[in-house]
Amino acid sequence: MGTLWGGRFQATTSELMQEFNESFSLDKRIWYEDITASIAHVTMLGDCGILSKKESRLLQNELAGLRAEIAENPDMLSGEYEDIHSFVESKMIERCGDVGKKMHAARSRNDQVAVDMKLYVKESLHVLNARIEEMIQTFQEKGQTIEALMPAYTHLQRAQIVPFSYVLDAYVAMFERDTQRIKDAIDRMDESPLGAGALAGTTYAIDREQTARMLGFKGVQRNTLDAVSSRDFILDALHCFAGLMTNMSRFAEDFIIYSSYEFNFVELSDGFATGSSMMPQKKNPDSLELIRGKAAKVIGLLNAMYVTMKGLPLSYNKDMQEDKAIYFEGLDTTTACVQILTRVVGELKVNEEHLAQTIQKGYLNATELADYLVRKGMSFREAHGVVGEMVLYAIEEGVQLHELEFEEMRKFSDGISEDVYDSLNPEMILQQGTKKEMLLKTNKPLFQ
Ligand code: ARG
Repeated sequence: MGTLWGGRFQATTSELMQEFNESFSLDKRIWYEDITASIAHVTMLGDCGILSKKESRLLQNELAGLRAEIAENPDMLSGEYEDIHSFVESKMIERCGDVGKKMHAARSRNDQVAVDMKLYVKESLHVLNARIEEMIQTFQEKGQTIEALMPAYTHLQRAQIVPFSYVLDAYVAMFERDTQRIKDAIDRMDESPLGAGALAGTTYAIDREQTARMLGFKGVQRNTLDAVSSRDFILDALHCFAGLMTNMSRFAEDFIIYSSYEFNFVELSDGFATGSSMMPQKKNPDSLELIRGKAAKVIGLLNAMYVTMKGLPLSYNKDMQEDKAIYFEGLDTTTACVQILTRVVGELKVNEEHLAQTIQKGYLNATELADYLVRKGMSFREAHGVVGEMVLYAIEEGVQLHELEFEEMRKFSDGISEDVYDSLNPEMILQQGTKKEMLLKTNKPLFQ
């Protein structure tokens, strides 16, 4: 294995160590960013007179040529190399001879890998955000096709009535914050570490602003020790993944429950469920269970990155090479889950007839009955007590509140009049107060 650093050594690196140390198998994934950052670097070296204009142009052209060739044929990214940086430099020496050996002036792999990863993370977060936007749109479109109302829960006990679309909208609100969090993270990481050298800058008068500008960064990271040794931009990104995965996992949990025989609110499409090898009747919500399971892994990856960083002395330490395995796995897992959840929701069957029956039971309108009594002049606390007694009575009679006779109701309060039945009607309930907001979340007017 050709390395970038043999001179000081008398013996070769053990093969075992070479295998242990190499990162090419993973960091070849940042080939595009590595070459792009190198183009900016050699352009700047030419403009600053550190390379001749001719040398700079040769390197720029050959780097761009290499980039185009790899884009055409990614299998080129193979061979015995320590890392992607060694691969690119050796290709440039093959193509440009001694000029190729000049391109690493005023640079270290430490600032190089930091800038490569920043470029990669920024771009991958933009791509992920676009996927989340698609998922949000799918949630909204599904919500607009479903008119059904359903019970909403606290403590997984029946609480109050909401439109089914409002539950989807709750997740949309969460995912919108996830996209905002990602934008914030991109914004915060938008400073270039390139030019920090190994850790303490360089004796050359390089133009860090120029490379930053060429690579699309807002500015440069001012402290070079910080620039080569911080990975909080990766932590920020992993935090975004962990947060998004947590929200998707909660959705998964809700809809695993809703798809059970006991709830029967929804059915997953055949395309996103699986069967049992033994029990012929089974249709299992594996897609959602895997999202819930993978959320655990992504949260663990965030933790792995924190633990990697927390004891490192300034500045660069090889421990940080592990950031790639962690980041790529977090990104790939999160991206796959967004893609799967988008399809699961797009193809979800909602049992609207069943939902219409479910809201008839479970005293979901008890709070609104208390509100009714308050409108008739009672204090809320007193009304709460009265309705509690009415619920107890109804449970004993085996009926729902709206099934109580008017005379039976009157025994609990003489403030009750015939219009009480309106206050128990789900459709009327949702026309009132802040509840009207829920209905705005669907295209169709639910009730005329
Ligand atoms: N493969 C290394 C990494 O990912 C690149 C930087 C290596 N720097 C060094 N001084 N060995 O962190």
